[in-house]
Amino acid sequence: MTTQTPTSKPMDSVLPHDVPSGPPAGLPDPATLASLANAFFSALPGNAPQGGTPGVAGTLPLTAPVLDEISNPAPAGSPLAGPGGAGTGVPGAALPQGHVPGGNLLPSAPTHILSLGNRAPALAPHAVASNGLPDSAVTVAPALDPRFGGAALGVPEGHGAQRPSTGGAAPASPVSAGSASPYYFLGETAQARTSTVASPDIVVPGWHEVSAQSLGLPGVDEPLAEQRFPYDRPAASQAAPSRTSAEHGSGSHYFLNLNEASRFPGQTPGATGGVPHAGPSAHPPFDVNAIRRDFPILQERVNGRQLVWFDNAATTHKPQAVIDRLAYFYAHENSNIHRAAHALAGRATDAYEAARSKVQRFIGAASPDEIIFVRGTTEAINLIAKTWGVQHVGEGDEIIVSHLEHHANIVPWQQLAAQTGAKLRVIPVDDSGQVLLDEYRKLLNDRTKIVSVTQVSNALGTVVPVKEIVELAHRAGAKALVDGAQSVSHMRVDVQALDADFFVFSGHKVFGPTGIGVVYGKRAILEDMPPWQGGGNMIADVTFERTVFQPPPNRFEAGTGNIADAVGLGAAIDYVQRVGIENIARYEHDLLAYATSVLQPVPGVRLIGTARDKASVLSFVLKGYETEEVGQALNEEGIAVRSGHHCAQPILRRFGVEATVRPSLAFYNTCDEVDALVSVVRRLSSRR
Ligand code: ALA
Repeated sequence: MTTQTPTSKPMDSVLPHDVPSGPPAGLPDPATLASLANAFFSALPGNAPQGGTPGVAGTLPLTAPVLDEISNPAPAGSPLAGPGGAGTGVPGAALPQGHVPGGNLLPSAPTHILSLGNRAPALAPHAVASNGLPDSAVTVAPALDPRFGGAALGVPEGHGAQRPSTGGAAPASPVSAGSASPYYFLGETAQARTSTVASPDIVVPGWHEVSAQSLGLPGVDEPLAEQRFPYDRPAASQAAPSRTSAEHGSGSHYFLNLNEASRFPGQTPGATGGVPHAGPSAHPPFDVNAIRRDFPILQERVNGRQLVWFDNAATTHKPQAVIDRLAYFYAHENSNIHRAAHALAGRATDAYEAARSKVQRFIGAASPDEIIFVRGTTEAINLIAKTWGVQHVGEGDEIIVSHLEHHANIVPWQQLAAQTGAKLRVIPVDDSGQVLLDEYRKLLNDRTKIVSVTQVSNALGTVVPVKEIVELAHRAGAKALVDGAQSVSHMRVDVQALDADFFVFSGHKVFGPTGIGVVYGKRAILEDMPPWQGGGNMIADVTFERTVFQPPPNRFEAGTGNIADAVGLGAAIDYVQRVGIENIARYEHDLLAYATSVLQPVPGVRLIGTARDKASVLSFVLKGYETEEVGQALNEEGIAVRSGHHCAQPILRRFGVEATVRPSLAFYNTCDEVDALVSVVRRLSSRR
């Protein structure tokens, strides 16, 4: 194969913003681009040459530098987007022909060209969107529905933003100096790069503006690229290369600049347990209005009303600090972790491992090595059932769950029982929805291997006495798993005080991102557990004859995990700790008491779940209405609740219903919002 140096101007000087009618300045002409793209992908092993590029196919070297700033050419949400956000997703598919040269060439996420194998078609400058929209519309319109709230906020679009200069020649930008903006302001000229929304206190910075400084951290005058996110600076005590290995390298690269903490006076790093510097958004111990300003989505409008979010048991919203942290990660730290001796791998690893330490402290674990990152609670319980369970549960053994459980804490155990010949036993509940401890005692015996119970019921809100349940399990010689999916955002959790063998939860229910969750396991138990999935990151050494596994937690984190969202979860935990979990618990307790007192008397309302100890959830049915009808009526007023079976069919059937309406509260909700909900229910009630 001969090499060919492209004669066109390098793409890294071209970041088009608007879609002009001809090729943007500096872009090679469309025919050249199409030829180069076709030639490159035709040259990949296994690809037959594509027709139409005579004289070029097969001549471009795999290391060709061309296009390395052109990636993700189709914006998020574009019908042109294939896997990875761009293209048709069909490797080797014919280049689409269209009419807006260069229209799809807006870069969003720099990606190495060799990973763009399935994006070739979108690199064509002549694409026609399959929905008939002109490329300019597809490319320029924001990815999100421009409702009033979103439009007012300005929807940041990565591909519309300018890259910060990294030194040397500044990349040429198609955005004129006067109009530079990372946002799309529909129907108006972008004026400012920081938009102020309905509340003047809510400021949403552009991604390039998210830095340690923009988050209110002490001033740092080092170049942007050198700034570190001090919340994530690991403590020296965590810097021991306990997770280094042959695969991970020496460890010395992964925890950089540990002695730099002094640049952030007042910042108590890492494992000292100090609450991180609160920054300028710090507010008094509990001020619900100040807290609400930290959550931009609460300004959304739905059906002409300001959003009321009472679906917190399904997922919680994210404070600006979490949103910023994710942007900061991708802007300044993004890399795979535990691998490679380069600076960004060090930053990403530091941030990821710092998040692990934050989780450790948040739930009172003894060591960060007891914290495994997974996708969420469901994956967490599956991991335990499919590793510890398969290892320890055999024919005739017994597994105990409660009647309150979410399907995620039933199905994996059912599968294990089916696989091994074990039995599933169920702790009954009383008419209030509280577990019957005496009945539980009767279920325990020397065949009981594990007791797996929720700490808070997602369907009823019952707070379960898990400490007693764990203690009784241990007395019977069984292990105990506590499902904290619905508890960690509402109450202090201390896994050592609970003496739980396993504790699991999801990041998105505690104001963190989706797709990240946690398994806590006592170190001795984890060390004895076999891995679940096999692959990279979890091994110490591999030959074709045998594999040596890493110790926990890496043994259970095969492959590239959800690095950024783990870091986002760390930021969510920081946020919760700044507000104070006890403050949150107290406020929510009073709010739930108020909500119960005003909803219960509404004629036709039947509360499902009336235990003395409850958190967050207020499930009910309304006489004469399907639960969906109530949900829809609330939605018409901008009030979001879940209606349905809540993935907990057994407990709803215990109360003779198939579904409920389920408002679920968080610490950003208010009595006014409760009143708004109750007035809709009252109105419905008066009609039938
Ligand atoms: N487990 C979540 C809920 O209760 C999805 O809604």
